[in-house]
Amino acid sequence: MKLDKEKIIITSALPYANGPIHLGHLSGAYLPADIYVRYKRLLGADILYICGSDEHGVPITITADKENVKPQVVIDRFHNINKDAFEKFGMSFDIYSRTSLPVHHETSKEFFLNYYKQGILNEKKSLQFYDEKAKMFLPDRYVEGTCPNCGNEQARSDECENCGALYDPSDLKNPKSKITGETPVLKETSHYYFPLGKYQKRLEEYVASMNEKYGWKENVLQYCRGWFKDGLQDRAVTRDLDWGVQVPLEEASGKVLYVWFEAVLGYISATKELSQKLGKPELWKEYWQNPETKYVAFIGKDNIVFHTIFFPAMLMAWNDAREDKYILPQNVPANEFLNFEGKKFSKSRNWGIDVIDFLKLFPADPLRYTLAANLPENRDTDFYWKEFQSRNNSELADILGNFVNRTFTFVHKHFEGKVPQPGTLLPIDSQMLELIEGYPKKVSEYFEQYKIKDGVNEIMSLARAGNKYFNDSEPWKSVKSDRERCQTTLYVCLEAIYTLAELFYPVIPFSAERLFNMLNAKPVQWDKSGSKNLPAGHQLNKAEILFTKIEDKVIEEQTSRLGQAEEPVAVEKFEEITIDDFFKVQLRTAVITHAENVPKSEKLVKLKVDLGFEKRQVVAGIAKSFKPEELVGKRIIMVANLKPAKLMGLESQGMILAVDNGKGGVSLLEVDENVKTGTRAK
Ligand code: 2FM
Ligand code: ZN
Repeated sequence: MKLDKEKIIITSALPYANGPIHLGHLSGAYLPADIYVRYKRLLGADILYICGSDEHGVPITITADKENVKPQVVIDRFHNINKDAFEKFGMSFDIYSRTSLPVHHETSKEFFLNYYKQGILNEKKSLQFYDEKAKMFLPDRYVEGTCPNCGNEQARSDECENCGALYDPSDLKNPKSKITGETPVLKETSHYYFPLGKYQKRLEEYVASMNEKYGWKENVLQYCRGWFKDGLQDRAVTRDLDWGVQVPLEEASGKVLYVWFEAVLGYISATKELSQKLGKPELWKEYWQNPETKYVAFIGKDNIVFHTIFFPAMLMAWNDAREDKYILPQNVPANEFLNFEGKKFSKSRNWGIDVIDFLKLFPADPLRYTLAANLPENRDTDFYWKEFQSRNNSELADILGNFVNRTFTFVHKHFEGKVPQPGTLLPIDSQMLELIEGYPKKVSEYFEQYKIKDGVNEIMSLARAGNKYFNDSEPWKSVKSDRERCQTTLYVCLEAIYTLAELFYPVIPFSAERLFNMLNAKPVQWDKSGSKNLPAGHQLNKAEILFTKIEDKVIEEQTSRLGQAEEPVAVEKFEEITIDDFFKVQLRTAVITHAENVPKSEKLVKLKVDLGFEKRQVVAGIAKSFKPEELVGKRIIMVANLKPAKLMGLESQGMILAVDNGKGGVSLLEVDENVKTGTRAK
């Protein structure tokens, strides 16, 4: 356990702003980093946690083309969606930046020009596939054809995944553009290459020495060894595209920096943005250009080569020629992948769930705990809905929640909610206190080695030990026979709960905060959390339920959705109308002020609605989907000029707009409170 004030930068891979993040992303590069950061903050470290959206690259331009919008529209959408999802999941970034910002473009150009002026980069001409219809050069993965070696019809432009052959793109048979399906032509282009090979020896030494000093993960070392064994090749750092960071040379117009060249620099430019926001524009240098700073990059396994080889080589090349030298990653604790119910996540096959959708159904902490307890640290792991349910019900609720709840209930009932004065300690008490005291160090040892999963499981075992201690001590008996004994037991339980709140804080921060509120206490420095934090007489707050159990049917609903393609709605042929026809309908916003079921009808509900300019009675067929009390206050849209009609003898003076939800119920079309009642919808 490090007690000095370490200076640390933590980064998590910058996710592409090209789609919503799913649970696999969280397990790979985000949750473990967040746990580590929160833990280090509790230890008092001087730490910056940096992330943001990666907003360049070909897939973004392709999404934009498909939607017929500018790439900016795509990145704005997904930057906001992902930022929001991360916030709701409790990610504690110091900044969530974007690579489309000017500070990032400037930083990337500065690096490129530095290499260019030093003469490090090689300019080379080559033939590349060009799609004349899409008017663009095609990156490798957007060309498919027949392998000249084995005849595989889905071979890539220069390599075949089936037989492993490497060939010249001009040898690929029957090439097709994956963008337009057209046959691309080979066209000459020139690019700048970074000579990775020249840095191979130094990179090998770097990896070996970091591993020796800081213990790198075996999976990461294996990837590195593989790359070194194959020999590092020159890598193009420019591309023929119009979306990205422009190459800052006149002769390179129409070219941008290769997305991986600039994305890794995004960590630095995001720190610059943070410094500006804090009003200390030079602050970033105190971290990135300070040899005392420890830099740890959290990523998923597909990003290893960029963080252990490419980025360090870029920084070495910069440092060789400059006084303002950057630090290199001290560790890159990359995770393997998380799969979903035994298969890869797939949007097209509807296999998996986006974070934002998950968090509409369940709170963040049970998800954080489930993912943390099963991180793919050494091998791929799976998310199973059933496991999520049992981690929530049998661990969070039955072990942690139950221990907290029974202790609080007891202390409120018998000791006025105050921490009891302990009496003479018996071996059972001293052993428990000793166990509690040793826990922060025990968990630290795991976290310091990036064994987040083991650390998290260890914390739950303290809650288990707490329950056992409570049971073995039988305070419900001693409260009648030996009050002092009972006081000691509850005192020890509360110490355990305090320590649990602290140790669980990095893992399930929302619940831990509520726990601290219940304890009427604050976190202390991590290493002091194992002992004597709640003096006798300290007043506790009322207990709250920390975790709600998840019922089988809720889980079954999720599993039954998996893999089901969304059926398009069947549409009967409809007649066209003119805009004048449409404007005959008066759609107006209204507030439901009263609702009651119509006797003898399963479907109908009688509503009073206020249109602002007048009040109406409406009879609507929505009783199966809503209880009357759920309807009152809803701000809906109604047809205000419908001829009144009688339904079950009741006059209905309008119609409320609703859509069938496909499950036998309806959803109402609602507006928010910013819209004035009675406003026309058009
Ligand atoms: O794999 C990805 O999602 C990449 N956008 C990660 C980039 S990490 C760093 F280079 F920014
Ligand atoms: Zn082949």
